Amino acid sequence: MAIKRSSPNSKSAAQAKKPEGKKVDSFQAESGKRLVSANAESKETERSEVGIRPQSLEEYIGQKELKKILKIAIAAAQGRKESLDHLLLYGPPGLGKTTMSLILASEMGVNCKITSAPALERPRDITGLLVGLKEGDMLFVDEIHRLNRMTEELLYPAMEDYRLDVTIGKGQSSKTRSISLPKFTLIGATTKVGSLSSPLRDRFGLVQRLRFYETDELTTIVLRTAKILNTKITETGAQEIACRSRGTPRIANRLLKRVRDYAQVEKVDTIDVELANIALDVFDVDKKGLDWTDRLVLSTMIEQFNGGPVGLEAIAAATGEDSRTIEEVYEPYLLQIGYLNRTHRGRVATALAYEHLDYEGYQGKLF
Ligand code: ADE
Repeated sequence: MAIKRSSPNSKSAAQAKKPEGKKVDSFQAESGKRLVSANAESKETERSEVGIRPQSLEEYIGQKELKKILKIAIAAAQGRKESLDHLLLYGPPGLGKTTMSLILASEMGVNCKITSAPALERPRDITGLLVGLKEGDMLFVDEIHRLNRMTEELLYPAMEDYRLDVTIGKGQSSKTRSISLPKFTLIGATTKVGSLSSPLRDRFGLVQRLRFYETDELTTIVLRTAKILNTKITETGAQEIACRSRGTPRIANRLLKRVRDYAQVEKVDTIDVELANIALDVFDVDKKGLDWTDRLVLSTMIEQFNGGPVGLEAIAAATGEDSRTIEEVYEPYLLQIGYLNRTHRGRVATALAYEHLDYEGYQGKLF
């Protein structure tokens, strides 16, 4: 049985019921948006990133291995005067897949059209985009694991032979016509590479993963963004924000903006480590970047399921969160920092999670 050490800052899952109505005192809960979610939930999120996105590989901080590989691919394609090979970028949200694609287009001196799989519902959605491409152009398809079958099948000959096979008419009198397309580059982005069909995955010449960022890389990103936003910040202030950003630039930049708001309201000129600490505590983002829901997931596992193993659906039912959201949004980072393990019998909270949430009674489990 896990026992919670008493601490003024640590609430148990039972105590941590979701705040309701006007009692809400965290900014995050009030706006209904999760501060530490890396999902590009809205057009507003995308827009807020426009001015601060790096414009070249030189400016892009982190992802050293990926940059090395892409630099070679760009130089080789330019040397042959060809378009870049189709590229599949995968990894958790917020790590810079769209940014990297825009940089690639700019380095190759071509246009990049951006869309996402859910927007490609009808065959004419993808055909419209493909026929509008010029030689060398890039087409970025976000969430590519969510393409429907028909759209995916239209993409096969387009990717392989730069050919679009369209069916004209219906029933027995229908005919197939082939339209040739300019040589283009498809950039697919996904958080779930395992959900891609193998015929689609195999058509990408380059398959690359984006990794979570190190704290020093995120610190440099925060300092760079602060400069663009004309916000004064100390190195240690930036480091404090970086530590709580779950290895994710999108979250780091979002937290910086919220801390900047706090500094402005408190009439503080420069964000230092003390101010960053106070502001991030107000926003309920803890020292490891966990928010209320992360802590609820872990404390529910510990208190109601003795730390696990417990199935995803059971966690979802007990916390009232959607199982897909737990799997795609919360889990990747909890796995990354070693607070959660996935075993064949279910999810397990680790000793690190017990320690972070101030529980005694961790029983090491062997699987
Ligand atoms: N802003 C967001 N991601 C970035 C990155 N990788 N490098 C520089 N600035 C960024």
